[in-house]
Amino acid sequence: MKKIAVLTSGGDAPGMNACLRAVVRCGLYHGMEVYGVKRGYDGLIRGDLYKMKSYSVSNIIQQGGTILKSARSVEFRTKEGRTKAAEQLRDRGIEGLVVIGGDGTFTGANLLYNEHGIKVVGAPGTIDNDLYGTDYTIGYDTAVNTALDAIDKVRDTANSHDRIFFIEVMGRDSGYIAIETAIGGGAEMAMVPETQTTIEDVINALQSGWDKEKSASIVITAEGSSEGSALEIANKVKARCPEKDIKVTTLGHIQRGGSPSAADRILASRMGIAAVEGLIEGRSNVMAGIIKDEVTYTKLEEAINGEKPLNTDLLKMVKILSI
Ligand code: F6P
Repeated sequence: MKKIAVLTSGGDAPGMNACLRAVVRCGLYHGMEVYGVKRGYDGLIRGDLYKMKSYSVSNIIQQGGTILKSARSVEFRTKEGRTKAAEQLRDRGIEGLVVIGGDGTFTGANLLYNEHGIKVVGAPGTIDNDLYGTDYTIGYDTAVNTALDAIDKVRDTANSHDRIFFIEVMGRDSGYIAIETAIGGGAEMAMVPETQTTIEDVINALQSGWDKEKSASIVITAEGSSEGSALEIANKVKARCPEKDIKVTTLGHIQRGGSPSAADRILASRMGIAAVEGLIEGRSNVMAGIIKDEVTYTKLEEAINGEKPLNTDLLKMVKILSI
């Protein structure tokens, strides 16, 4: 394999740049030409590619976001869009593509392989940690730490004012960020999409704190929680406990930004190299992952659809630790 391309797509994640750097440098190390695609699949369709050198990725390992930029391409969801994208690669003699992103990115890559035979390897870049075939995804550790930093700050003001805070974290349909920030942030409770937690459960948990004269409480809610957003949950609790001082904080996109943690930089670097070396070894339509410290390759379809169960013992931990 002489020429490969790399793109970042979908929601950005801290560590995408570190992964890109590893892809470029590993490709060059193995004597290949490496092309960077701007703005994900949209850029690929338009032929927005440029040849990358070692210095193209200098000084980016510590930067959040992605220097290639990202997009959620609508055109790539069409057959015509994917045909144009495949032609752009073929016209330039590019034989392999590394895609750094989450399940939407891999869904697209899987189609590109199935419809056009483009050799593609994915590197899991998403703060949600919702991909099967890897213990952790690039960006997750940083997002959890960013959320924790914010929760610590909210805790200060919650204590000063004897307030109950509902803090919403990202994660789409996954409760990983919520559960780990709840443990690390010393929250009273975590509401995650994977298990049903009713308003009654929330009030009971808070009540057991009030019974022990706990004056401030923090409940972490995943954005995919079955009871709705943090605001909706807070309104339902307020309707039942009107005397309580209740506030809501939605952490939002701050969780997607910032300099990647050491763990994310190392994970991203390993995955970038694994993706390129996977292509060299003739692998295709797979995601490079790391399970129990070993590099693994999982079919893209499995990475997207496989179940990555949340360890629900962790929910019990939150309960035990908030007694
Ligand atoms: O997949 C990453 C993520 O940040 C999710 O946690 C969140 O649901 C979604 O992306 C938000 O997407 P956007 O930035 O397009 O609003």
